[in-house]
Amino acid sequence: MSRWVITGGTGMFGTDLAAVVRESGHEVTALGSADCDIRDLEAARAAAAGADVVVNAAAYTAVDAAESDEAAAFALNAIGARNVARAARGAGARLVHISTDYVFDGGDSEPYAEDAPQAPRSAYGRTKAAGEWAVRAEHPDALIVRTAWLYGEHGPNFVATMLRLAQAHETLNVVDDQHGQPTWTRDLARYVLDLIEAKAPGGYFHGTSKGSTTWYEFTREIFRLSGLDPERVNPTTSEAFPRPAHRPANSVLAHSGGPPRPEWHVSLAAYLRSTCRVGAS
Ligand SMILES: NC(=O)c1ccc[n+]([C@@H]2O[C@H](COP(=O)([O-])OP(=O)(O)OC[C@H]3O[C@@H](n4cnc5c(N)ncnc54)[C@H](OP(=O)(O)O)[C@@H]3O)[C@@H](O)[C@H]2O)c1
Repeated sequence: MSRWVITGGTGMFGTDLAAVVRESGHEVTALGSADCDIRDLEAARAAAAGADVVVNAAAYTAVDAAESDEAAAFALNAIGARNVARAARGAGARLVHISTDYVFDGGDSEPYAEDAPQAPRSAYGRTKAAGEWAVRAEHPDALIVRTAWLYGEHGPNFVATMLRLAQAHETLNVVDDQHGQPTWTRDLARYVLDLIEAKAPGGYFHGTSKGSTTWYEFTREIFRLSGLDPERVNPTTSEAFPRPAHRPANSVLAHSGGPPRPEWHVSLAAYLRSTCRVGAS
């Protein structure tokens, strides 16, 4: 049994991580922003004291809002990440820091390797990239786990949004020119736990599902598994949906090592079953 502390433990991923780690017999303290504001180094130090494992799942995740308030995103995603890393190192704890596909430019045609150069094209991506550097500098043994296209029960997410829109609209237009790996937060939680239990060395890891798809194909599969007609989903382009922040065309992350990851459509079926949105896959 080890003692885990999760900053951002009230978020979509952090809530599932706390549950998965607890289920496997460890002691977990899951902290929200009211319990520990990671922009405050002393608060981070108090949180990490006595921990064996610290996971930083706290982040400024409003990708579009970050374009007009990069300083606020930086304070959390870079300075906050540095504080948690410094605190974890001081406490002698292992550190898992959660990062994102947005640290890459999204323009390649191949999956991004763990050691591919960072080239963020959005304010959010820049602040997360700075966070990765800060974490490596403060805690050289840290595991930096990049993820993407997360969905889970404890946050607003793409799957829930599509099912809500399906109630209100006969047809939906969904972008078909962005590629990624839909990833269930419980799978990412299991992946993080497996990394720690395997005593993985510090470095970069890609915690996304196997396989890849587009938002359009993903939505069709959500419809199909939920007993809705996938023909109600039409393909469209990113150009037709302008957003403040640049969206990567290619968010697919390579898996060069680390514990096994499930196929995205197998996990989607399991997620929908777990939320009672579907009876069978
Ligand atoms: N969602 C995705 O699709 C996605 C994709 C790629 C990477 N990621 C990364 O995955 C990680 C988890 O994302 P998520 O979607 O689970 O995030 P989320 O649901 O938005 O949760 C964010 C968490 O950060 C906490 N937080 C906010 N401000 C804080 C502060 N000043 N001090 C301490 N904690 C603070 C929140 O606490 P309160 O709720 O208590 O305020 C909450 O627990 C993040 O690192 C994110 O960058 C997410």
